[in-house]
Amino acid sequence: MRVLFVTPECAPLTKTGGLGDVAAALPAALRAQGNDVRVLLPRYREIDPAGAEERAQLRLLGMDVRVLEKGDCLLVDAPALYDRDGNPYQDAAGVDWPDNALRFGLLSRVAALLAGSASPLAWRPEVLHCNDWPTALAPVYLHFEPARSGTVMTVHNLAFQGIFDAALLERLELPRATFAIEGVEFYGRLSFLKGGLVYADAISTVSPTYAREILTEELGCGLDGVLRERRGVLRGILNGVDGEIWNPMTDPHIAERYSWTSLERKAANKLALQSRLNLAPEPQAPLLGMVGRFTHQKGVDLLAGAVDELVQLGAQVCVLGHGEHEHEAALSAAAARHPGRVACAIGFNEELAHLIEAGADMFLMPSRFEPCGLNQMYSQRYGTPPVARATGGLIDTIMDGETGFLFAPAESAALVAAVTRALAIYGDARRWRELQRRGMTRDFSWAGPARQYAGLYAAHARAPVP
Ligand code: ADP
Ligand code: GLC
Repeated sequence: MRVLFVTPECAPLTKTGGLGDVAAALPAALRAQGNDVRVLLPRYREIDPAGAEERAQLRLLGMDVRVLEKGDCLLVDAPALYDRDGNPYQDAAGVDWPDNALRFGLLSRVAALLAGSASPLAWRPEVLHCNDWPTALAPVYLHFEPARSGTVMTVHNLAFQGIFDAALLERLELPRATFAIEGVEFYGRLSFLKGGLVYADAISTVSPTYAREILTEELGCGLDGVLRERRGVLRGILNGVDGEIWNPMTDPHIAERYSWTSLERKAANKLALQSRLNLAPEPQAPLLGMVGRFTHQKGVDLLAGAVDELVQLGAQVCVLGHGEHEHEAALSAAAARHPGRVACAIGFNEELAHLIEAGADMFLMPSRFEPCGLNQMYSQRYGTPPVARATGGLIDTIMDGETGFLFAPAESAALVAAVTRALAIYGDARRWRELQRRGMTRDFSWAGPARQYAGLYAAHARAPVP
């Protein structure tokens, strides 16, 4: 199967969250199963064009664009839009780029071109796989092509929709007819994601539970009606773990490597983490870790509200992340209140994220909603049982009391209660080890999910007329 996988981020080239990991690991797993998958993304400043070959020169949406090929990637090169400091979505100060509609409209437009009959490339995909709102206009553009590949739209997070002023319709060269209830119109504005959900042949999201949750008003982010209408083509396929990158036996970022048969070596990572973050070097104190975007979604405020009690319980807490200012401030204040017991590292740091997975005793994910979540799977592999809210993919990947701990109310007290439950088992070394080993020996590989995607592709493949 020839698949064009279009994404706004792909690790290690550029990553802000889980989609970056998925965009690297899923195409690789599909290739290992014999599929021909190319990843299309913008040529951001951090992506070195050295070694890339030009495949096409185009004029699209009034812009000069080149398509470059580098390894398995196709890069959309439009320096005026993508050659900047900052991340794919925001400037260095964390403010959304003002021209995001054009930046990701162009990404979608190029994807549609390469998946349609007018493609300048000899390589023609049978399926275009779109990921999240920055790619979601591609099925809209393709809908109007005389011949095209099949389209799959994956929702990694329904809360981000790409909603812009309707006046941009013309700038994005979208047919007037698309500005309708059965199209990109969303309360008088232009919604990228809605367009993808309406026009794609198939829709998937990243866990079976989230696939059900987004049909409800509570978690449907205003699109539950659209999704209910399309529920016949909606699937939930769980993410996997890239076992080459997230593996405590081979991880180059951690202080000491270990496996489920040498768990005693995990202690060296805890000590390294404590010393790195200026926490008291106490081997017995349960160390709770968290890594993630500091947003309402991740329940960072639930943790901030629980920290004092967690310290009371004898725990140490360390968090790594960045994002909304109020969350950064609340966690930094907690660290200041509890020197040596609570540490807060602000920023994005791949290596420290690995050390936290390895060095912490438990991993916290108090998410309000979580489409899939990757860290709880990583943490199980690292023998660091997750304590998480029972929502979305966290429900599908954590066995409560067996490989981790789940709690229901989105409240600090419920988080504290779950940690208390975990601590009771932590105090019993034999039981804790069993819990760790059960998590470490689970199969979270991408092989199974990749086969499910391949099945989805097969059901919707189409060959564009050459
Ligand atoms: P989401 O995609 O919603 O952010 P996931 O759990 O799916 O959540 O994936 C998050 C990924 O991003 C994980 O690989 C996690 O380690 C990584 N990550 C998030 N924040 C940071 C950070 N501040 N530093 C390093 N890695 C981070
Ligand atoms: C999103 C979700 C996260 C998911 C990731 C990769 O960012 O918030 O739950 O794991 O995408 O699919």
